[in-house]
Amino acid sequence: MSDKPVLTTRQGHPVFNNQQQRTVGTRGPATLENYQFLEKISHFDRERIPERVVHARGFVAHGEFEAYGTIGDEPASKYTRAKLFQEKGKKTPVTIRYSTVIGGRDSSEAARDPRGFAVKFRTEDGNWDMVGNNLQVFFIRDAIKFPDVIHSLKPDPVTFRQEPNRIFDFMSNTPESMHMLTWLFSPYGIPANYRTMRGSGVNTYRFVNAQGEGVLVKFHWLTQQGEHNLTQEEANAIQAGDLGHASKDLYEAIERGDFPKWELNVQIMSDDEHPELDFDPLDDTKIWPREQFPYLPVGMMTLNRNITDHHNENEQAAFGTGVLVDGIDFSDDKMLIGRTFSYSDTQRYRVGPNYLQLPVNAPRPDVVVSTNQGGGQMSYGVDNRGDNPHINYEPSSIAGLREADESYREYRPFVSGQIMRAPIERQNNYKQAGETFRSFTDFERDDLIGNLVTNLQQCEKHIQEKMVWHFSQCDEDYGRRVADGLGLDYTTVRA
Ligand code: HEM
Repeated sequence: MSDKPVLTTRQGHPVFNNQQQRTVGTRGPATLENYQFLEKISHFDRERIPERVVHARGFVAHGEFEAYGTIGDEPASKYTRAKLFQEKGKKTPVTIRYSTVIGGRDSSEAARDPRGFAVKFRTEDGNWDMVGNNLQVFFIRDAIKFPDVIHSLKPDPVTFRQEPNRIFDFMSNTPESMHMLTWLFSPYGIPANYRTMRGSGVNTYRFVNAQGEGVLVKFHWLTQQGEHNLTQEEANAIQAGDLGHASKDLYEAIERGDFPKWELNVQIMSDDEHPELDFDPLDDTKIWPREQFPYLPVGMMTLNRNITDHHNENEQAAFGTGVLVDGIDFSDDKMLIGRTFSYSDTQRYRVGPNYLQLPVNAPRPDVVVSTNQGGGQMSYGVDNRGDNPHINYEPSSIAGLREADESYREYRPFVSGQIMRAPIERQNNYKQAGETFRSFTDFERDDLIGNLVTNLQQCEKHIQEKMVWHFSQCDEDYGRRVADGLGLDYTTVRA
């Protein structure tokens, strides 16, 4: 007798034979009352949930965030009342999901693609999700363009192949993408693995303190493992043998006790329009220059625990930009607001209306979830309704739940203006892309030009010319070198 546990059905019935169906005689036919077989097969038929529409391939790990109690040289409370930052040494459990963006859930982790960097902080005030990327900027600055930018990057709807011609057709009509493209086609476009890459919140948020004062804030994760990237040739060699090298690297590091760390840094600006800047602080195609807005350290994250089940802790994990805690608030960044609708909307479709009851998404156990919501498919538990389960509404003179005290009052910025559809004023689409180009080393610039040329060679000539024109607006040398690589006459295209 083995000491293994006995196999059962989901009803708990011990299974006597898991090798054969019930049949009439040894050669069949099978009978319809094969309950054990039908349960096994029909559950198998439903094993997959829809993959994420973007960021389908990812890897999850757990760990903790330890606060410094300060933001730079100041007490954290100067800028934010978020409880997780207040005391030096305070630890908050975290769950992180790294991902690629465009490929399906079995695609290559060595693709030239942004990397997702989504962190769920399980705080005493409920969860805070910081859903960021490795690169610090994005292709677009208005959420209404997100389905288009993603369609251009995803496989062609007919050939189902990622087509540079479609990508650069869209990008050449989207000048704000030049900064992101400059990063994406440089070596930073293929991080070596998840442990050695940095992260950024990309969008602009607000910190709010106990006095109700707000500042604009950007978040950055700095890897303590050293930052490393791959050339296209190195990436090709890796993906020829392994599509999941980055997940493997992270999993194995945590298994051997080599726990990776990232320091959380913030950049802070006063909460106004900053007319003195040549960019808008709410524009996610821009970097806030570090010399003007220094990185201020706030704490360290360590990943120290692997998941035990990919489906439960990765496929069903749900991160979203609306998931903020008291002391951290939205800005009017038009991407952030659009994203905030999109995440929970897709998760209700992808995982189901009760996705927040799953352990990977629920707040930590000492946070009592008290709502009057109930029902829906796959409802697992009933939220706390106080001491009278009959009262699932509020207000009530009988029993039920009450609102939180004044200390949780939301930030109340004053907004007035005409409702319109209009681009932001300070677009400045090329300047930072040019600065980024010039900040690269010779090797990085060569790599960028080589990668762009390889991809643009597969595009129609009018698209090549339009892209060269945009690059020339960023930096003359940038445009000239791409034109030369494509065999185009730069002076004609530039004019
Ligand atoms: C308006 C623009 C955007 C929209 C509408 C959008 C929408 C989405 C959607 C629908 C998902 C799938 C979520 C799921 O199925 O659970 C997703 C995933 C993700 N997005 Fe965005 N996104 C936008 C921009 C961005 C930007 C700018 C970043 C980086 C800062 C970003 C980072 C991520 C990450 C990291 C994930 C994966 C989360 C995970 O690991 O589960 N997205 N996005």
